[in-house]
Amino acid sequence: MSQGAGATMNSNLHRGVRAVAAGLLCLAAVVGGFRIAAAQTADVPYVPTPWNVVDAMLGLARVGPDDYLIDLGSGDGRIVITAAKKYGARGFGVDIDGALVSTAQREAQRQGVSDKVAFFTRNLFVTDISRATVVTMYLFPQVNMRLRPRFFKELKPGTRIVSHEFDLEDWQPDAKLTLAVPDKPYGAPSSDVFLWIVPADASGKWRWQLTVAGALREYELTLEQTFQMLQGAPLVAGKDARFSGGRMRGENISFTLVADIDGREVRHEFSGRVAGDSISGWVVLNGTVPAVQTEWRAGRTTRGKLNINTEAPAAARRTLIAEERK
Ligand SMILES: C[S@@+](CC[C@H](N)C(=O)[O-])C[C@H]1O[C@@H](n2cnc3c(N)ncnc32)[C@H](O)[C@@H]1O
Repeated sequence: MSQGAGATMNSNLHRGVRAVAAGLLCLAAVVGGFRIAAAQTADVPYVPTPWNVVDAMLGLARVGPDDYLIDLGSGDGRIVITAAKKYGARGFGVDIDGALVSTAQREAQRQGVSDKVAFFTRNLFVTDISRATVVTMYLFPQVNMRLRPRFFKELKPGTRIVSHEFDLEDWQPDAKLTLAVPDKPYGAPSSDVFLWIVPADASGKWRWQLTVAGALREYELTLEQTFQMLQGAPLVAGKDARFSGGRMRGENISFTLVADIDGREVRHEFSGRVAGDSISGWVVLNGTVPAVQTEWRAGRTTRGKLNINTEAPAAARRTLIAEERK
């Protein structure tokens, strides 16, 4: 690793324990006898994910036989090979280090999964990821942040992204696990695993009608979306209502409205699936007598803009500035 790259890496590693862990990972790679893959161009040194963490990553993503998994920086191929062998998934790994790619190819052959998986010597930054239903990574924070905009641009809604150790800053994970790793070669003897599910874009203005307490009511909802989180401004029969709990999980949407209907407070729990400019699903109404569950269909009248904070991420900005200076 060049001094310049090391300085950039150090300046980008931040925030408490994760900073220490990342720094130690880098240091361990240099002094601890770890192999540094293709030192000139590798953005992250080679450190294999422990086997119990591999299992946890695949379990958290619920990998199955219909999945196509891409490991960005695949090392000895263990994540892709395990996904194929244990869960019947297909996929590929890319690594900048040709020797590691050869090891992974040999291992895939040995384990009898070379018809399901492939490994390529390739830079992860120029790898087409659009086919993935699951993306895995064990990379540094600033590398994750450079990839983040691509996840929204190139991956289908519902694609799961699993990261060992490092997060995606202000994109909150949909799930997180912490596992004991007693023989971890750096930092605390534990590892974090994060899961994100690429959300569909539900931002904009939606309208629908519902029969509540015997009369047809008009609903209008303006949704603002940041990553998978939704903020809403609802009108029910022309009057303001309260919105809470809005979020996307892939194409699935859920939120709650509380509206005054004929002098009664009616709680609406909506869930559904966003497909283009339509939503279809179910709503549970509480506060009417009796409580009911009914079908619900909405149409989008105005599209919004999914906010993925492209301006905000500090690490990504610092990386870009450092690259511009090179
Ligand atoms: C921490 S290791 C993770 C290996 C494997 N994914 C695992 O979890 O066991 C990171 C890997 O990324 C590779 N790598 C680093 N920069 C890369 C780049 N720009 N493109 C492709 N691979 C890269 C390294 O060679 C290394 O094998």
